Amino acid sequence: MILFHILLALSAATFASADTLIDTLQQNGFSDFASIYQDADPSILSSIDVGSNFIIYATNNTQSAVNSTLSRRRTTSQSQRAAMSSVQNTASSSKKLRFKRQQANSPAAVYESLLSDPEIVNLGLGVNQSLVEKPVGDAGVPNVFAGAGQVVPIVGNDIPFDGGVIRPVASLLEIPGAVPSTLSLFPNLSNLTALLTQSNLTGPVSETAGITVLAPEDSAFAAVNISALTDEQIVGILSQHVIVNYVGYSPLLKDGQVLNTLANGTVTVAVRDSGVYFNGAKVTASDVIVENGVVHTVASLVGSGDGENPPATGTAGRVGLGLKTLGLGALGMAVAALF
Ligand SMILES: *[C@@H]1O[C@H](CO)[C@@H](O)[C@H](O)[C@H]1NC(C)=O
Ligand SMILES: *[C@@H]1O[C@H](CO)[C@@H](O)[C@H](O)[C@H]1NC(C)=O
Ligand SMILES: *[C@@H]1O[C@H](CO)[C@@H](O)[C@H](O)[C@H]1NC(C)=O
Ligand SMILES: *[C@@H]1O[C@H](CO)[C@@H](O)[C@H](O)[C@H]1NC(C)=O
Ligand SMILES: *[C@@H]1O[C@H](CO)[C@@H](O)[C@H](O)[C@H]1NC(C)=O
Ligand SMILES: *[C@@H]1O[C@H](CO)[C@@H](O)[C@H](O)[C@H]1NC(C)=O
Ligand SMILES: *[C@@H]1O[C@H](CO)[C@@H](O)[C@H](O)[C@H]1NC(C)=O
Ligand SMILES: *[C@@H]1O[C@H](CO)[C@@H](O)[C@H](O)[C@H]1NC(C)=O
Repeated sequence: MILFHILLALSAATFASADTLIDTLQQNGFSDFASIYQDADPSILSSIDVGSNFIIYATNNTQSAVNSTLSRRRTTSQSQRAAMSSVQNTASSSKKLRFKRQQANSPAAVYESLLSDPEIVNLGLGVNQSLVEKPVGDAGVPNVFAGAGQVVPIVGNDIPFDGGVIRPVASLLEIPGAVPSTLSLFPNLSNLTALLTQSNLTGPVSETAGITVLAPEDSAFAAVNISALTDEQIVGILSQHVIVNYVGYSPLLKDGQVLNTLANGTVTVAVRDSGVYFNGAKVTASDVIVENGVVHTVASLVGSGDGENPPATGTAGRVGLGLKTLGLGALGMAVAALF
């Protein structure tokens, strides 16, 4: 009991000695960034209570990216920007502990932000926009994965304030956009973009809440004679690339996980040293955050079978469309002929 009171007193003292978010930003060379919060809806700052364990992804004043990004994206309000940069670090909650156990030794994490504007967040009732933080490259430098395929390095140590920590990043986080506009930013997804339009799937893919899009790169389509397929078959193929009712941020994916697709089929996740695979199709760029979920680009088409065996180690090779994956009826013949 005495110990408890000492701990309580200590933690109270810790909070009392730390400054507010705005003061801490201003005192540490982040005053331009602080102005975003000062201009934002006051409810954002008041959500970041004393002792609430937030992470604030902030850019410092010498990063001209702050001002140039601000002027480039006038249409996005400061409130959205501030909300997207404020994530709840649930590390100390039981939710996070469960989550950590699932991930085994991966330091990657998914954090829910304060961005809840229903105009640009469509993840299901009461679910705010999230972002992914995970190590990148051989050095394992932690990076933040945000909207528009943005991957932002963390460039400094956490700076504590009374509601959590300020985590310095190299540029302001992009607000996640709709699927079509996000795909159009990737030059190697032009075939997918065209085919989604042709098959009238742009609407469902943009508007369905809480999805994971597996976006085949153009090279995946090069292996298939698309003009030999009917519209119906193309719809079948593309629908198999949309996982419904599940936002599969990479830190959440588990080996052997089976997920349902818009085509009413399933895809099975494989997590290997060489990467993550969906029915054998290897993920090339992961965790592109969009309004209604997440996009991962894949190197080959994702078949509808569930029996794929991605490589135990090493690279994928051409495993994306084994005969077993071709559960799309006549399409199976059309595509299999090309392999
Ligand atoms: C950003 O803009 C503010 C106000 O317009 C200005 O005071 C500040 O010096 C600018 N910072 C940079 C890095 O350009
Ligand atoms: C979602 O964002 C709102 C503010 O826009 C905040 O009040 C709420 O606590 C957030 N929810 C979660 C689960 O973070
Ligand atoms: C601002 O961040 C950059 C890295 O993005 C760093 O090189 C620079 O030293 C930082 N400036 C200050 C004043 O901390
Ligand atoms: C496709 O584009 C993305 C983003 O520009 C990139 O990360 C990925 O490596 C590209 N894929 C190939 C095969 O070049
Ligand atoms: C895929 O894109 C290439 C150019 O990047 C184009 O030549 C080809 O016709 C496209 N195929 C389909 C099926 O859209
Ligand atoms: C897409 O919609 C147009 C117009 O409603 C229709 O003519 C076309 O057949 C549709 N295509 C497919 C693949 O459903
Ligand atoms: C692709 O399919 C079309 C229509 O069936 C056919 O005319 C064309 O020769 C095929 N192209 C190749 C390279 O097989
Ligand atoms: C989807 O699957 C359910 C059962 O899993 C089945 O009842 C339904 O007919 C299927 N729909 C289509 C379009 O295949």
